[in-house]
Amino acid sequence: MILPLLLLAGCSGVQSALDPAGQEARVVARLFWVMLLAGTAIWLAMMALAFHAARRRAQPWSERGAVRLILWGGAVVPTLILAALLVFGLGLMPTLRAPGQGLRIEVQGEQFWWRVRYALPDGRSLTTANEIRLPRGQRSEFLLTAQDVIHSFWIPVLGGKMDMIPGATNRLVLEPEKTGLFRGVCAEFCGSSHALMAFSVEVMEPEAFEAWLAAEMAPAATPRGEGAALFLARGCGACHTVRGTAAAGRIGPDLTHLAGRHSLGAGILPNDAATIDRFIREVDRIKPSARMPGFAMLPPAETAAIAGWLGSLR
Ligand code: CUA
Repeated sequence: MILPLLLLAGCSGVQSALDPAGQEARVVARLFWVMLLAGTAIWLAMMALAFHAARRRAQPWSERGAVRLILWGGAVVPTLILAALLVFGLGLMPTLRAPGQGLRIEVQGEQFWWRVRYALPDGRSLTTANEIRLPRGQRSEFLLTAQDVIHSFWIPVLGGKMDMIPGATNRLVLEPEKTGLFRGVCAEFCGSSHALMAFSVEVMEPEAFEAWLAAEMAPAATPRGEGAALFLARGCGACHTVRGTAAAGRIGPDLTHLAGRHSLGAGILPNDAATIDRFIREVDRIKPSARMPGFAMLPPAETAAIAGWLGSLR
């Protein structure tokens, strides 16, 4: 009773390949269901044959009957079934190989977060992290690579997964068909915090996407104040960029509009000032082997001020 319920729980939700919200995922889901049904039918036929064989063991096959069984059951029918499934599968390929149009997004896997750069058709670009927003109904092209070890980029509701390999660039095209908030994950073991490497995916109507893009291009909402001064004084800017301030580090995630993201720490925590504070102090415990050290040695009032400021950057 519990097992089927558990299995069914995988059929919907923000991270289910069986609840597609994009063209490529729909193709993958169709392939899955056809293969599952065909496999089930073949299994049932084999079970029926096995029962039949067990029952008629008393009367052995005639030589001609046995040859015919081996020829048809062992060669002709399996070849026809496998050929039909192959033709069906190959027929799905062209949709998955179609070129992109317009938006190009470079995503780089890092231990354990995602560097995201939008390259717009008009030549402008935008760097952000750990969240991907996409316009509905457009074929967006992803260029995937990695900084340190092999990761794998996977948004199950939008399409298949693709490896991110240091020194190489892999290409993936996705066309979202439904708006909504979804989830992507790293699908290749990449270190202690591999399971803590996810990201939010929001599919928006094209107008809403353009408005978001314009807001995201702007520098930080509040570039000054106590929290901003402490952020710079404590050296956070050596690794992080906050556009509009002197912080221009390139090692860690860009934090310019951190508070506008759906989640914190690459898809694993709620995004609010209290959690940002905890993340700054205990990142070594929250994300083992992350390159950012925990800053528990700083006075609590200082990290609270920094977190309060970061939590205001919409
Ligand atoms: Cu990155 Cu697993």
